Amino acid sequence: MPVTESSALPRAAAARVTGRSLPERFRRQADSLERAGRSPLCVRLMHDAARNIDARGVVAELYDGVSVPAGSVPALRLLGALHYLVLAGRARALAEFYPSAGGTRPPAGVWPVADAALREHFDWVRGRVGRTVQTNEPGRAAALFSALLWLTDRYRMPIRLLEVGASAGLNLLVDRFCYLVGDRALGDPTSPVRFLEPWSPPPDIDLLDAARSLQIAERSGCDVAPLDPASPEDRLLALSYIWPDEPERMDRIRAALELAAHDPPPIAAAPADTWLPAKLADRPADVLTVVWHSVFRQYVGPDRWTELEAIYARSARASPRAPIVWLSMEPGDDHLANMQLSVRLSPREPERHLAWCGDHGPPVRWE
Ligand SMILES: C[S@@+](CC[C@H](N)C(=O)[O-])C[C@H]1O[C@@H](n2cnc3c(N)ncnc32)[C@H](O)[C@@H]1O
Repeated sequence: MPVTESSALPRAAAARVTGRSLPERFRRQADSLERAGRSPLCVRLMHDAARNIDARGVVAELYDGVSVPAGSVPALRLLGALHYLVLAGRARALAEFYPSAGGTRPPAGVWPVADAALREHFDWVRGRVGRTVQTNEPGRAAALFSALLWLTDRYRMPIRLLEVGASAGLNLLVDRFCYLVGDRALGDPTSPVRFLEPWSPPPDIDLLDAARSLQIAERSGCDVAPLDPASPEDRLLALSYIWPDEPERMDRIRAALELAAHDPPPIAAAPADTWLPAKLADRPADVLTVVWHSVFRQYVGPDRWTELEAIYARSARASPRAPIVWLSMEPGDDHLANMQLSVRLSPREPERHLAWCGDHGPPVRWE
């Protein structure tokens, strides 16, 4: 069951979500999180925020006139804003409930304190709830890495990795993380970003051989609002979208941000349909171009998505000998299912399902 930003929008459910009221959307996300046994603090805050909207409280005022289209995950916008205030040291009483800031108080009493923080910082929070969610979850690299191994096994070519909706570009560092599988350390064994048995089962290939052969010849990405991993402000923003009571994810993103700050992959500030055509032109024939996106599709309108499909088809047609693979990790069509890792080996081929995984990556279950 998807539990985070994706939970509001499994692909085929978009139309249904649009018709739901704001409190309903908060409650659905809380229920989904709760069923998955995740973040009691966020579950509590989402339920309390839903009640607050019903009672025309401060949360209703905050969202008054704010556009929250399907897939825009309004609950995560609000929780990200609260977490940011806590991490920035601007909501000290609230921090007592946030394990990410050393807080130890149980979630049960959090709402009056959160309510007060929302009132105190009303204008700032209102700006934040109008802003697109800007998660960058390095756990999704666990899905990406397994797919790159599968592609390496299949094509035996170096890879150009192009990410659309890359945020801070953390997942472009996929081969600089370490994946512990049995007694093998794949990727970079010295990496501070480590995944223990991320695949269950793994792709049915010789993993060690594929990992040794994997070569990333180029990595780059685009985002309409890229985050700079070296900027304290942008780091805080990226941290604010992690559930505050999931310390492993907090540690993981901190380590990944640190890596990225020292050697940042280039991320262009551009929408995907503007950036991609030039990146897909003049491709070398002996390199596999992989376009990758994760939890991105729900933020792109249908017209722009159609244009992205057309760009893929045109670019592949223009130089058919230089393969382009389209790889994605997005909510599945079935809203009760998890994230789907899928691939299209050419625009003429249908999307092929590779694996299921969690919203934040592991466990990745290959078919
Ligand atoms: C939920 S985040 C996911 C980021 C990253 N892919 C991950 O999985 O951690 C979605 C990202 O898509 C970006 N975005 C939304 N629409 C876009 C577009 N048309 N072109 C490029 N980036 C876009 C947002 O700014 C945001 O950083």
